Amino acid sequence: MRHLMSPLDFTVGELNDLFDLAADIEANPEKYRHACSGKILATCFYEPSTRTRLSFESAMLRMGGDVIGFSDASSSSASKGESVADTIRTISCFADICAMRHHKEGAPMVAAARSTIPVINAGDGGHQHPTQTLTDLLTIRSLKGRLDNFTVGLCGDLKFGRTVHSLIHALERYEGLEFIFISPEELRVPDYITEELKRRHVAFEEVIRLDDVMGRLDFLYMTRVQRERFFNEEDYVRLKDFYILDREKMSHARADMLVLHPLPRVNEIAVEIDDDPRAAYFRQVQYGVYVRMALILTLLGIGIDK
Ligand code: NCD
Repeated sequence: MRHLMSPLDFTVGELNDLFDLAADIEANPEKYRHACSGKILATCFYEPSTRTRLSFESAMLRMGGDVIGFSDASSSSASKGESVADTIRTISCFADICAMRHHKEGAPMVAAARSTIPVINAGDGGHQHPTQTLTDLLTIRSLKGRLDNFTVGLCGDLKFGRTVHSLIHALERYEGLEFIFISPEELRVPDYITEELKRRHVAFEEVIRLDDVMGRLDFLYMTRVQRERFFNEEDYVRLKDFYILDREKMSHARADMLVLHPLPRVNEIAVEIDDDPRAAYFRQVQYGVYVRMALILTLLGIGIDK
């Protein structure tokens, strides 16, 4: 039995197979309409979510499976003091696979250790968000045809943003990647990540001004300042509008640069950018469903002839 805790749980070859499957699902959705009939997905979300939870549920429903779960810790027995380990042993009797989001780093790992069904980490605190990363990689592969030799700018809250941490981990395995981290001093990417990049001889630089690097980027991955992980409101208010991507800033970007964002967006991308052909964040949401469909099939060991 296999779980997904980190994007590194899959080798580059396994990721390619997963993305090929997602591409086949996109091209031939009717072939998969009953692929999960009789199977149940549990979504155990202890933290708010729109995209990730509904994307998982939509993925399962589009393959003929069923969905149970909770979307808020207060409506689960966690509010009575039940441990994650006990919850997952219970859920294992009800469902065939579980997607879990938790505010505590490592909680889905604790669950996986006690589970008798595959567990997918759907985001744990400020740590990892592997299925968002699978979504990001599938988007890049689908829109650019490859995953290597890019200059990737990551902008915003690089300290608390778990999507950023997961994406860097996943991309550092591909050839010719160069990262440009764009953040205020207070929201720099954590040292454990930059240390790892140095060890692996992956090129990166850290800057504060987006304008200085805009013209060099193949991708700009914008992120929301993670208000819920701040220790005080004052710091959040000071930093929340540090970057706002607008038409003027986009005029310095390359004609083929793509803007990604895991969403939800607050102020960091002006709505006027949504109609720019380089804005790929809503297409990214659609790829998220295909990749979660592929992931559910893979972890359940359901094979469909391509
Ligand atoms: C992200 C998350 O939950 O970390 N959202 C998502 O899953 N698409 C990003 C965010 O909340 O800013």
